[in-house]
Amino acid sequence: MYIPKPLDDKVTIPHLKKLKQEGEKFACLTAYDYSFAGLLEDCGVELVLVGDSLGMVIQGHDTTIPVTLDDICYHGKAVAAGLQNAMLMLDMPFGSLNSPQQAIDNASYLLKQTQAQVVKLEGGQTQLKTVETLAKFGIASCSHLGLQPQMVNKMGGYRVQGKARSAAEEMLATAKDLEAAGTDLLLLECVPANLAAEITEALEIPVIGIGAGVDVDGQILVLQDVLNVTAGKKPKFSKNFMQGQSSIQAAIKRYVSEVKRRQFPDQSHIFS
Ligand code: KIV
Repeated sequence: MYIPKPLDDKVTIPHLKKLKQEGEKFACLTAYDYSFAGLLEDCGVELVLVGDSLGMVIQGHDTTIPVTLDDICYHGKAVAAGLQNAMLMLDMPFGSLNSPQQAIDNASYLLKQTQAQVVKLEGGQTQLKTVETLAKFGIASCSHLGLQPQMVNKMGGYRVQGKARSAAEEMLATAKDLEAAGTDLLLLECVPANLAAEITEALEIPVIGIGAGVDVDGQILVLQDVLNVTAGKKPKFSKNFMQGQSSIQAAIKRYVSEVKRRQFPDQSHIFS
């Protein structure tokens, strides 16, 4: 039985790699403020993401497109103030990565302002040069493949990605290219569970999943979904962890424990 506890040491990229090598799953969540950041860390969450999902769950927009660098910076500073050992990752918002130089400038600014450890970027093949440049300048990155919400206007909605064999092979090849270019983490969103397992197996870097099955190295969800306060329809891959729990702390500990014990996600949360 896994009992979630506060983190003893600073979570680093080598630490997450070691967990992957040892087959231990790690738990990640989004947060956007000081109070929840501290609470998540106390409950054993190893990585906290200030996601551009804040455009939807904090600002009330329909998409993540309106989120600005200043928004990420503001929430990044607030979350950083609540963390001691958990890894802090920040999303690079839409329009902040239009060239490697712009990406370096914006990522450096965010890391200096917030002291986050990692930036996350959507974009796959388009961002290979940027990932390589970030790595050269000592900026740790997490590449985001699968469903990329910043592409919503091109995609016309949010759908599972990589279902056709050709798309799956392309995603696997891109994941390998991103690893070779120097990305430190990979995040897979809304990807069939068997494809996510194949990608996770093929890479040395830790792979974090949301709607990507149980065989990735770490799980992430949007905090509001976990606490069942998201307005409207809940995504299939999320779970209300408040159900049956008497406090927010108990719900978060339940999430961490279910991730560590591979109980979450189960068949009802995954895509095939
Ligand atoms: O913005 C966000 O919160 C994310 C998660 C869905 C992983 O990218």
